[in-house]
Amino acid sequence: MARELHLNVNILNAGFIGGAWRFPGADPYAAYTAELYEHVVRKAEEARLDAVFFADTPALAGDLPFRPGNNFEPTVNLARLAAHSERIGLVGTLSASYNDPVEVARRIGSLDVISGGRVGLNVVTTAGPFAARNFGRTEEFDHTQRYERAADFARRLIDRWDAPDAVRSPQGRPVLLQAGGSRDGRRLASRIAEAVFSVDQTLAGAQAFRTEVRAGTRQFGRQPDDVILLPGLTTIVGSTEAEAKQRRELLDEIQPTGYALWRLGGQLGLDLERFELDEPIPRELLPEPEQASGSQGFYREVLGIIDREKPTLRELVRRLGGSTGHRIVVGGPEQIADDIQHWFEQGAADGFNLMPDVFPGGFDDFADHVVPELQRRGLFRRDYQGTTLREHFGLAVPPRGSFSTTNLKAAG
Ligand SMILES: Cc1cc2nc3c(=O)[nH]c(=O)nc-3n(C[C@H](O)[C@H](O)[C@H](O)COP(=O)(O)O)c2cc1C
Repeated sequence: MARELHLNVNILNAGFIGGAWRFPGADPYAAYTAELYEHVVRKAEEARLDAVFFADTPALAGDLPFRPGNNFEPTVNLARLAAHSERIGLVGTLSASYNDPVEVARRIGSLDVISGGRVGLNVVTTAGPFAARNFGRTEEFDHTQRYERAADFARRLIDRWDAPDAVRSPQGRPVLLQAGGSRDGRRLASRIAEAVFSVDQTLAGAQAFRTEVRAGTRQFGRQPDDVILLPGLTTIVGSTEAEAKQRRELLDEIQPTGYALWRLGGQLGLDLERFELDEPIPRELLPEPEQASGSQGFYREVLGIIDREKPTLRELVRRLGGSTGHRIVVGGPEQIADDIQHWFEQGAADGFNLMPDVFPGGFDDFADHVVPELQRRGLFRRDYQGTTLREHFGLAVPPRGSFSTTNLKAAG
């Protein structure tokens, strides 16, 4: 069967550029209204996207001085959205570090049946002290421990969903996703993930990532086609290239510098306020990615930019757009479609987790102008072929018990 392009929209805050909430006409508090999600889900379903996706950090971190805070709890929000949609997939993120797999299996399993088999669960290992403190811990689990817990968490979810008396949805059980780019993260992806939310700045890096995760599946009694790779992609769409570039410049201007420094500083483990904005960050202060305690995947991508482009701190925070490392494409509809097509055809991605610059306008522009261009090129579906998320993702329904017999035996 020909490969199919997959597109999710990741809905978070006012958009993925740090100053999105200050964009002309934007409602800074839109992410706290049910209407925003309803609007994006309707639009995404009309555009025949695979899924809406909610990232989530179970804590209020230190960004409140710079922008309106967090979003709704994902599963509550998805339950409501399931009733406001018919075909689109519904993916939520929950932390393996701070949730009980028995409770999550029940909640997500119920949602999957109620929605007719449209649910996916993104298992993450949540870095940082804020979430740890929120759950009464003085320190977070270290990187290795977090991944050991996540593997155990995923196994226990699947055991519950595959239990002989468990009610199954039309897709068998919820689709499992994973987001984390370290060595341990890639291994977990090969072992349990059916879709991976990854971070990659370069085509070669993404190709290597995809090749490794796919090849790694065999070690766990799975097949390379059992997993699809969906890098994050921030889009800044204009009707022309010039208009898109102007939009990017405006977004750069309204980005609170304090926010960008705080966010990047957290990523790099440095207090960036004490550095000169017009000098590069001294390279000797930056450890190798394997030593980072946060997301090593994001850290590796930021370090790659620092090493390749040698930016000043000011240039770096602009380059990242207040994100911690996802790629940003800027252009008219054809240019954005070219980029997506190139990455897809070169085997760097099976699709993308879209992270529009500003909600809802930035996503509306993508749905109205980029999706039709992808459809014209025969790259993206004009209608849903199935009713479940697993069908949208081109994944087979796993027979009950298939995971335990192959995966666990292989992993020892
Ligand atoms: C692309 C991507 C998306 C992520 N999204 C989330 C998220 O929504 N919530 C969360 O708690 N952690 C998220 N994480 C963080 C990782 O799960 C976490 O930092 C982990 O401990 C280590 O990631 P690593 O494998 O890249 O080192 C994400 C990581 C990546 C690479």
